[in-house]
Amino acid sequence: MTEISKIGVLTSGGDSPGMNAAIRSLVRSAEFNNFDVVGVQRGFQGLIEGCFEQLEMRSVSNILGNGGTFLRSARSPEFLDKKNRIIAHKQLQQHNMDALVVIGGNGSLTGASVFSHEFNIPVIGIPASIDNDVFGTDYSIGYNTALETIVESVDKIRDTANSHNRLFFIEVMGRKSGNLALNASLASGACFVILPEKKFELIDLVKRLEDNKKRNKESSIVIVAEGNNYGPSYKIAEDLSKVYSAYESKVTILGHIQRGGKPTSFDRILASQLGMAAIESLKLKKYNTIVGLVNNSLINLPISEVINSTNQLSSDLYRLNKIISR
Ligand code: F6P
Repeated sequence: MTEISKIGVLTSGGDSPGMNAAIRSLVRSAEFNNFDVVGVQRGFQGLIEGCFEQLEMRSVSNILGNGGTFLRSARSPEFLDKKNRIIAHKQLQQHNMDALVVIGGNGSLTGASVFSHEFNIPVIGIPASIDNDVFGTDYSIGYNTALETIVESVDKIRDTANSHNRLFFIEVMGRKSGNLALNASLASGACFVILPEKKFELIDLVKRLEDNKKRNKESSIVIVAEGNNYGPSYKIAEDLSKVYSAYESKVTILGHIQRGGKPTSFDRILASQLGMAAIESLKLKKYNTIVGLVNNSLINLPISEVINSTNQLSSDLYRLNKIISR
């Protein structure tokens, strides 16, 4: 591997609030360390197509508080094909990029790892996903903002649920991970949560609702993670109405509202830390690692370790939620 002087940066997969803050920090730290930075538009897809822009100090002004990613993002099925990765590598060579920083979730970090091994390219991964399911970091960029968005929405729905004595199923993102759902349940006082990691049976919900009714609970909130084993929240609500009708049920699917919006201060600071850490990792030749935050300290972990493991639900929080959510 040659000495690094020019770094490519891309955002990939589902966008997450704080990605802009990470790019801003990365560009400014790179300039401080005399590296040039090239922004790759639309993730790995833009790498294949050669969609590049030179980034400097002023190219990243006024983006710290913006949601989304100004480099734009994509899920690129083309990048799964080796012949397209060869094209992407040629693009990197033609534009003299010696290293790549990939900002994204598990799928994007897997793509980064494959690419780095195939072509001996130094890569650093910055975990960014509202799902907070990247192994090896306490937080990925965007998770805190998405959680705040969910909790604010649930608080609003609770007002109308209380006024009408209704049961609300509120579906949140998380195809494989229940982190958002569990933490949203705790922070919003839901009475039940349905998670991808735990098998759900309708009878458990019926029991909880019956118990709540006996204790004079007039309205209830159930948080449903989209990737649960039973099915979409409309199906859960419909099946419940066949066996339990004490409440009128309503369903709200929060959808992509969870991915948008201005990043919280927490995400802006986390993203700024990880952006700089990515540059310093390249300087220290900590290649093919992710940067992350564990117990408030910055860490590096081999990408290969990260993509072969999963971020488990906190059993302490799960237990806490079971005991106090009623
Ligand atoms: O990867 C993050 C995520 O927000 C998941 O929680 C969700 O299932 C998925 O992206 C949705 O992706 P898309 O926007 O491509 O439909």
